[in-house]
Amino acid sequence: MFGKRPTTPGAGGQGFGKTPASNAPAQPNPSAPKPAAPRPASPAAGVAVKSRPAAEKPAASKPAAAKPASAPKPKAAPKVEAVGAERSAEYYEIKTTIFNALIDTIDLSQLARLDNDTAAEEIRDIVTEIISIKNVAMSIAEQEQLLQDICNDVLGYGPLEPLLARDDIADIMVNGAGDVFIEVEGKVRKTNIKFRDNGQLMNICQRIVSQVGRRVDESSPICDARLADGSRVNVIAPPLALDGPTLTIRKFKKDKLKLSNLVDFGSISSDGARILEIIGASRCNVLISGGTGSGKTTLLNCLTGFIGEDERVITCEDAAELQLQQPHVVRLETRPPNLEGQGQVTMRDLVKNCLRMRPERIIVGEVRGPEAFDLLQAMNTGHDGSMGTLHANSPREALSRIESMITMGGYNLPTKTIREMVSGSIDVIVQAARLRDGSRKITHITEVLGMEGDVIITQDLFLYEITGEDANGDIDGRHVSTGIARPNFWDRARYFGLEGALADALEAAEA
Ligand SMILES: Nc1ncnc2c1ncn2[C@@H]1O[C@H](COP(=O)(O)OP(=O)(O)O)[C@@H](O)[C@H]1O
Ligand SMILES: [Mg+2]
Repeated sequence: MFGKRPTTPGAGGQGFGKTPASNAPAQPNPSAPKPAAPRPASPAAGVAVKSRPAAEKPAASKPAAAKPASAPKPKAAPKVEAVGAERSAEYYEIKTTIFNALIDTIDLSQLARLDNDTAAEEIRDIVTEIISIKNVAMSIAEQEQLLQDICNDVLGYGPLEPLLARDDIADIMVNGAGDVFIEVEGKVRKTNIKFRDNGQLMNICQRIVSQVGRRVDESSPICDARLADGSRVNVIAPPLALDGPTLTIRKFKKDKLKLSNLVDFGSISSDGARILEIIGASRCNVLISGGTGSGKTTLLNCLTGFIGEDERVITCEDAAELQLQQPHVVRLETRPPNLEGQGQVTMRDLVKNCLRMRPERIIVGEVRGPEAFDLLQAMNTGHDGSMGTLHANSPREALSRIESMITMGGYNLPTKTIREMVSGSIDVIVQAARLRDGSRKITHITEVLGMEGDVIITQDLFLYEITGEDANGDIDGRHVSTGIARPNFWDRARYFGLEGALADALEAAEA
């Protein structure tokens, strides 16, 4: 419809990694041209510029006009965040004694049959009795704390409970019994929370994963699960994890951030938000790129807010996180194999099936494998406005990641064909990043224009420029448009009656 979609992948020559003629930041190290003839399907073949995806680099050094990042400061000793009252070694000793006495007195499996309140009441009575029999000297406050801790151990997730109850925590990371870290406001901090020993931690891991019918032990030491509230959990146990069971929880946020929240946080300027809104509403095909925890899913959720009420939307996710508000949404979720290794349903299975469900838009939570091909196909065949996230540190890298996902998926296609497909399908790449000061920013809104020779051409519309650092080590910067007055999706915006708004937003975003 807009002159870009119908790309007929011609069987062309092989790709030479060349620096594209784009106004993307010039990269100092273009990959050396590769001979075209005998060519193994190498996953390392980048789209251009970089020869292979770089490992997690500090995203802060990416934006075009960024000053060279100042030398990293020596790290201060990690601050320990106290959660609840500090517990002494004696306290743990007393608790162990009382806990053992409790277990001798009651049958835990009987207790598990009671509802939580009754069970807690039961524990309370018995523990109070044990304390008086054993003549333990404790203040009322200490007793109350002990009771709470023991109830958490027996009925809940033990020392994790106070962390799970907090809404401001994004991630909980347990590295063995003694080390519990949390992420709050983009920063990782150590807490004073400890487990009695690795045995207790393992029991809690077991309790979590058993709720989704799985098991974690030495013979199957890796496991994914989900808490009742939707939080995602990963457990990796010894012997693979050397310092004890390692538990990672990405907490589910009930109140997802909105684009207006991101503007308030300074993750994007209000003009930038307006541009994103137009991109969403005018049905551009969008990839959201970023590192782990950079806010990709949050951003995707925001963008889906601009989907029309009358569109049929199908979402495919590994663990349902998106919260679409439209009336006509079908939500699909992948399934890991069961204990016997059967019954797996992959992302690719879901995306392929989607195409038979008469979707108007397809939203893929995270593209990480061969489903990239099916998503591009969908984008290319009339499902305009489809979206997905992927793990990459720049828009350019996102393109090369997509290309290598398709190459590794075993589709025997010439590189040029893949690139034509990529450039014919994706309209816009939005880059999210977590900067070194913990803040999350949208660093690029980049358009995919098409091909020039064997190279995909991109054009940055909107960037985050780092200008410096303040006294607290927080990064100063600003969002600016690059001065492009007529983006490639202009005609699309006009079709949806949004070209005036687009022109205004772009003009306002010019510094
Ligand atoms: N712009 C932002 N400002 C502050 N917090 C954010 C922002 N974007 C996301 N977050 C928070 O960061 C965490 C990770 O976000 P998420 O979107 O799940 O990241 P990703 O999908 O990239 O791994 C969530 O707790 C989310 O609420
Ligand atoms: Mg995510």
